Amino acid sequence: MSRLVVVSNRVGDVDNSTQTGGLAVAIADALRTYGGLWFGCFESSEKSGCTLQTALGSNGVQYASTPVFSTEYQRYYAGYANSVLWPLFHYRTDLIDYREGDFRAYMSVNRQLANQLYPRLRADDIVWVHDYHLIPFARFLRRAGARNARVGFFLHIPFPPPDLLAASPNHASIVDSLLDYDLIGFQTSTDLSNFQRYLDEYAIAVVSADGTIRSDQRTSRSGRFPISIDVDSFTKMAEAAPEDVRLEGMRRHILKRKQIIGVDRLDYSKGIPARFEAFEKLISGNPSLEKSVSLLQISPPTREGIKPYEEIRKTAEGMASSINGRLADFNWTPIRYIHRTVARDKLAAILRHSDVGLVTPLRDGMNLVAKEYVAAQDSDHPGVLILSQFAGAAEELTEALIVNPHDTDEMARCLLQALTMPLQERRTRHHLLLQRIRSSNVQNWANNFLTVLLTDARSDDVSIPSTEMRQAHQALLPSEFSN
Ligand code: G6P
Repeated sequence: MSRLVVVSNRVGDVDNSTQTGGLAVAIADALRTYGGLWFGCFESSEKSGCTLQTALGSNGVQYASTPVFSTEYQRYYAGYANSVLWPLFHYRTDLIDYREGDFRAYMSVNRQLANQLYPRLRADDIVWVHDYHLIPFARFLRRAGARNARVGFFLHIPFPPPDLLAASPNHASIVDSLLDYDLIGFQTSTDLSNFQRYLDEYAIAVVSADGTIRSDQRTSRSGRFPISIDVDSFTKMAEAAPEDVRLEGMRRHILKRKQIIGVDRLDYSKGIPARFEAFEKLISGNPSLEKSVSLLQISPPTREGIKPYEEIRKTAEGMASSINGRLADFNWTPIRYIHRTVARDKLAAILRHSDVGLVTPLRDGMNLVAKEYVAAQDSDHPGVLILSQFAGAAEELTEALIVNPHDTDEMARCLLQALTMPLQERRTRHHLLLQRIRSSNVQNWANNFLTVLLTDARSDDVSIPSTEMRQAHQALLPSEFSN
């Protein structure tokens, strides 16, 4: 049987229940099912002498992580990946901080990783590469010698429309290098169609209705594979509430207080300031709600040291403290803001004991917290999910209250609607949402992706774009890509 080799920037741990971040959690779930190797890199302060770190986990899962010297790692990770690709792919071209040296480091780290993995590959391995850090990985892996290996790519974050993507000086190489994968997967139909539109508008490949892509490089596939969670195990985790979460729930019950919950890495794409503003409008516009509802915002630190992340931290902390200063009473704190990582099992229980799940990113690949909130609820007394129309999850979770995360008045109205929603309506909505996430859990996500990856792409003779158009596009490619 073929071995699954997962490649991602960071190597997680399939046995760690406190792990956060959609990518790590979903990959761990897939590897627990399939077994295999999880390969990635880590930042090393030693320029040389530090070697590949390997480990063996339960279920026979192997880990291998290759060191990348600190200066280069920072340029690759904090630089090109998180100061160009992340803001760009989240439609925030205003936050792009492009430096040529960062792009070179990005390419170099991808090459190093591919060169490290290649000698460890077995003939029938299936390689599954994850996320924006590793877009050109397949190109370097093929160059290293793995010409015929099955290599798939899944983008966990949104893919922007062609006009926005063109804001990056390297847009041509970004897209061109994706064509070295056999399968390119996206979260939503919007992301898939943005990618296919780019191929079409820049005439670098021809896309058939079934997602087959024919270019100079190869015949690949593209498709939509919405990521999910392991619903049953999350529900179980939520039911087994730790003592402190249960006691806090009972206290609120006695005081007849409701809780709105927000859980997001402290990222500017998550819309936390607008969420705080909406909550303030809810309370100011409905004085009877004072002392009867609070917002618990759990935002673990992320990518510290990158300027927009420092700024969003200051903004969120400043807003929480000024709103509390205006509204709080000696026995009521309107916004409780936690800037620490909370273990996943505890988080599951907190979601279950919250009356409203407020998930309002300005742009998000999927947002698994939305699905976790649904899975965590008690079906007899479920809470209400409020979901941004710009989260990938909104394509599936249509029975949530869907909001525009820029419209704080609408969000305040939705919060009121959620807090006063009759039990029967809550049950009906929750039942439908639960059905949806059950029918496409994380096992389906991995199965669907790997099944398509293992199926041969159609090799019908579709006409490829004109030589002139292709030459124009080739001219946009950096020297790193020329042979
Ligand atoms: C979240 C995003 C992923 C991303 C990951 C990386 O999970 O949804 O797309 O790969 O964060 O986070 P990191 O902490 O490694 O920057």
